[in-house]
Amino acid sequence: MDPYKFRPSSAYNSPYFTTNSGAPVWNNNASLTVGERGPILLEDYHLIEKIAQFDRERIPERVVHARGASAKGFFEVTHDISHLTCADFLRAPGVQTPLILRFSTVIHERGSPESIRDPRGFAIKFYTREGNFDMVGNNFPVFFVRDGMKFPDMVHALKPNPKTHIQEIWRVLDFFSHHPESMHMFTFLFDDVGIPLNYRHMEGFGVHTFMLVNKEGKATLVKFHWIPKQGVKCLLPEEAVVVGGSNHSHATQDLTDAINAGDFPEWTLYIQTMDPATQDNYDFDPLDVTKIWPEDMFPLQPVGRMVLNKNIDNFFAENEQLAFCPALVVPGVYYSDDKLLQTRIFSYADTQRHRLGPNYLMLPVNSPKCAYHNNHHEGSMNFMHRDEEVNYFPSRFDPVRHSEKVPIPANILSGKREKVMIQKENNFAQPGARYRSWDPARQERFVKQWVDNLSDPKVTQEVRNIWLGYWTQVDKSLGQKLASRVKVTSSM
Ligand code: HEM
Repeated sequence: MDPYKFRPSSAYNSPYFTTNSGAPVWNNNASLTVGERGPILLEDYHLIEKIAQFDRERIPERVVHARGASAKGFFEVTHDISHLTCADFLRAPGVQTPLILRFSTVIHERGSPESIRDPRGFAIKFYTREGNFDMVGNNFPVFFVRDGMKFPDMVHALKPNPKTHIQEIWRVLDFFSHHPESMHMFTFLFDDVGIPLNYRHMEGFGVHTFMLVNKEGKATLVKFHWIPKQGVKCLLPEEAVVVGGSNHSHATQDLTDAINAGDFPEWTLYIQTMDPATQDNYDFDPLDVTKIWPEDMFPLQPVGRMVLNKNIDNFFAENEQLAFCPALVVPGVYYSDDKLLQTRIFSYADTQRHRLGPNYLMLPVNSPKCAYHNNHHEGSMNFMHRDEEVNYFPSRFDPVRHSEKVPIPANILSGKREKVMIQKENNFAQPGARYRSWDPARQERFVKQWVDNLSDPKVTQEVRNIWLGYWTQVDKSLGQKLASRVKVTSSM
């Protein structure tokens, strides 16, 4: 019997334990000492290497979305949308593309429970023949704020208090009392979907408006939706306490177990589309990330299916080192002018150069699976084998050339320098419609969450009144219910 059968794909192939440089280790149990009980010798290279490597086993965790679980699978086109996009991976029904998906919570640390009320990340890396396409979305279709300038403050308010390291609702309510555009997001976060049952039973959204561009260069505004075949299921707050209290990794466990059992989770990809020429015709700005596009006006159109059928082999290599970036698009997909998306185009690669190092895209999980060629490869931890003598472009000695021109949106950009808010704020209509669409029991669960939030003794009366005003503008009866039930315990 092959004694190494239990690690068929491991990089290790020596029958002996060795140092990192391959020298045999004859004793991995005891350090090298002067005499049997004496002090340790500095020349015990194996001990030093082992401890030094251990000392560096952790890299900085993601500043947000630190806690996550990933799995691999494929995307298969089921409906032809080649009239909308020239994206190669969407070229025809039946085309399959391998992918890796990472689910995550947002606010707390790498080891925090997966049962908390928090948005969930839903980030997919498609390894296409034209490079990697990352759809870095969430399980809610909208976001808290519209301008990336506010993102660091927003995250600071949601994260634990810097003095105590405790997440405190008074800080959250204080910050967002300045941001009525966040009401819509709060009708997701404090609704039942704020605590998904696990990662398999939740929706995913591209959240931002993107553009599809066809081979003639015609651009169409688009939103992406992932609907789980398994259905959407949530945990009630009292259930979450039990689930999270007994297993702080319950969602990772559920995903791993389901895939191991052959019960592969599957999502259908739908798009909503809009002609950019009509974008001024609505009572909301279609580039506003705090808004949905109503489905009765913009019906969901099926595109394909995603199946997760393989667990990762190594958490560090395929989760911690995984690097998503909304800037990674392929020909046929383009960014919209959504200001939040535009900031994200910068942020992710920047944090990954810090978190993983300048050559993070060479790591196997991040590198393209198609052929690629450029001269951006030196710097720390370059492990790519290169033997060319020409590392500049253009050169008469290197036949590499530009690709065919990729179609990009042809709209003309002009305007004076501005630092302003989106004009059509319309902050309350969509959250109001969402609240009114729920049955009374669901409304009551939402009200209870907000009675608890607003009754926190550290919330000042000024902040409480602002929130009561916002919820009244969302829905008059909601505002009245809250005003009659909130306990005024604050002395501030
Ligand atoms: C992760 C920044 C908005 C979804 C991250 C990370 C940063 C970041 C720095 C850590 C990345 C890493 O270490 O690899 C920002 C900024 C935003 C923004 C500056 C606004 C300007 C959003 C929005 C969404 C989102 C609107 C949802 C559509 C995610 C997801 C991850 C993430 C899913 C985790 C990716 C993974 O699993 O590795 N974000 N973010 N972010 N962000 Fe954002």
